[in-house]
Amino acid sequence: MKTVAVYPGSFDPPTYGHLDIIGRGSHVFSKVIVAVAFNIRKQTMFTPEERVGMLRTLTGPMGNVEVDAFDGLLADYAVAKGANVVLRGLRAVSDFEFEFQMAHVNRKLAPKLDTVIMMTGEKHIYISSSIVKEVARLRGKIDDMVPELVRDRVVAKIREQE
Ligand code: PNS
Repeated sequence: MKTVAVYPGSFDPPTYGHLDIIGRGSHVFSKVIVAVAFNIRKQTMFTPEERVGMLRTLTGPMGNVEVDAFDGLLADYAVAKGANVVLRGLRAVSDFEFEFQMAHVNRKLAPKLDTVIMMTGEKHIYISSSIVKEVARLRGKIDDMVPELVRDRVVAKIREQE
């Protein structure tokens, strides 16, 4: 049976934590669709096109990974894509409540859609896109948190904004 997973998120910007989940997911599922959410209420540093572009470059070497963007309900998008799984990473207990709620809402909306949670690799548990942006804005090093390509784009964006 083909198991297609949608891995949704803001990815503003993509981090090593995200890439760890995508890489591990690509070994477990037939296909992983990385789905960049746009029109989310959060103010983002990067446009959806920029986030999709970075993710396409970074996941290029992984054969069974596709990058796309979506608007509206994740459950509707996943069903339309023929996915049977929503893949999410969990870093700490603090992530649990949101993931728990999201998994239940998505199952209510699409009963055949199951959520699979992967534990984020221990090297990456402290990384979040917000921490990356904050450290970079305060001129800290983000080299251990994001790939070079992302680091350069974040630094350039901050320079543009100042
Ligand atoms: O990276 P994030 O910000 O934790 O991702 C959250 C995201 C985008 C996956 C979530 O907010 C989402 O699925 N948004 C789409 C709208 C939706 O379906 N909402 C109901 C389930 S929470």
